[in-house]
Amino acid sequence: MGGRRPSGRAHQVPPTERQSVSDLTDLTALPADFTWGVATASYQIEGAVAEDGRSPSIWDTFSHTPGTIDNGDTGDVACDHYHRVPEDIGLMKRLGVGAYRFSLAWPRVVPGGDGPVNKAGLAFYDRLVDGLLEAGITPFATLYHWDLPQTLQDRGGWPARDTAEHFAAYASAVAERLGDRVKDWATLNEPLCSAWIGHLDGSMAPGVRDLTAAVRASFHLHLGHGLAVEAIRAASSDARIGIVNNLSPIEPATDSEADHAAAVRADGHTNRWWLDPIHGRGYPQDMLDLYGVELPERPGDLATIAAPLDWLGLNYYFRQIVQDDPAGTAPYARQIAVPDARHTHMGWEVHADGLEQLLIRLTDEYGARRVYVTENGSAFPDTVRPDGTIDDPERARYLDEHLAACARAVAKGAPLAGYFAWSLLDNFEWAYGYDKRFGLVHVDYATQLRTIKASGHHYADLIRSVRSSGGGEGT
Ligand code: IFM
Repeated sequence: MGGRRPSGRAHQVPPTERQSVSDLTDLTALPADFTWGVATASYQIEGAVAEDGRSPSIWDTFSHTPGTIDNGDTGDVACDHYHRVPEDIGLMKRLGVGAYRFSLAWPRVVPGGDGPVNKAGLAFYDRLVDGLLEAGITPFATLYHWDLPQTLQDRGGWPARDTAEHFAAYASAVAERLGDRVKDWATLNEPLCSAWIGHLDGSMAPGVRDLTAAVRASFHLHLGHGLAVEAIRAASSDARIGIVNNLSPIEPATDSEADHAAAVRADGHTNRWWLDPIHGRGYPQDMLDLYGVELPERPGDLATIAAPLDWLGLNYYFRQIVQDDPAGTAPYARQIAVPDARHTHMGWEVHADGLEQLLIRLTDEYGARRVYVTENGSAFPDTVRPDGTIDDPERARYLDEHLAACARAVAKGAPLAGYFAWSLLDNFEWAYGYDKRFGLVHVDYATQLRTIKASGHHYADLIRSVRSSGGGEGT
């Protein structure tokens, strides 16, 4: 297998005044046309939940359910991005990014879940795309980042097959309208979270705890993905389509046989379940045996799920070190804390090598031909200084370390085409509410004032430096 050899030119980021952390992040191996981006998601930033015909999503319902979200936060207003698109595109310009990964809210575009398209909802994304293109920023559109129309949840949600079919119809409507300008599409963001966290763990919408529902949801998410690929291609022949998975390298906590077996199960649950079917390998037999849930599969479904893709999206945040947990829930593997490690405000270990490992795995084991790091970033508790600035060296260091890991993977043959920092803005971090800040840009939620953090300036410097030394000329 093995991806292509890197075609990058030599460029090493020189130290700049603002480079508070690493003097020399070695990005030599990144290809010349590397894409530099930032990412967000609809429910996390848009607000305006009842405007212009948008209907409630499962996240509106969930976040308004007492006890689900820290501090009782909701996405009702979020970053008010719906009303601040020009300002937010201006921020992207100041960061110098060449690409913006955003998601569309299905309940804005098709408020009934299926049926008529809401012109005003689609027009919002139309304006966003036009604004991006005018600013020289390439749009990367994600069709589903967890905000399922509540009306579809009421009719069974992802455990029901119809939802997959409605998703394809929604994808088709969006691609027909935007496909003349949007070329880069992701169907789903992190289906693992929708299925496992939303339907098994229950700490995300729709808050279900049921293994059968979770497995059925995972299957229909994949089916919806495959059907959407067909729908997008039918609407836009030059579309480049991918799917975004959040993956983790898994290691056993000890050398014991039980922990090794737990690591294999955790790998199946976190990685192989999400990668094998879209690569035409079907679902991993060991996991089917473990879950003991019959897939709601019909003839032809596995081929639909394995629709050829143009790229894979990788969201990377942490590795998992696991031990056997027979008393737990599937996959009966408990993640343990790593002593003496650095952690972000999420409690996630900072481990950049894991990103390199995953990029190599996608290349060697899955024969990936084009990969984007579609999300990577860190939450840290920021302090606004009296002069209004935010100095966040830990976030800048995180960026440096993970970009260096990307470059190492490329040097070893990974076909990495771009990197999207998570996130452009501080935003609604799901069950954690607004307390966890991932932004390169600080948001004062009381005033909606945006301030580029030192890490944002650092990212901008880095992009500029790489470009000026001849790299990353693409987007
Ligand atoms: O904020 C989320 C995003 O919505 C999906 N990926 C992980 C991010 C950080 O938790």
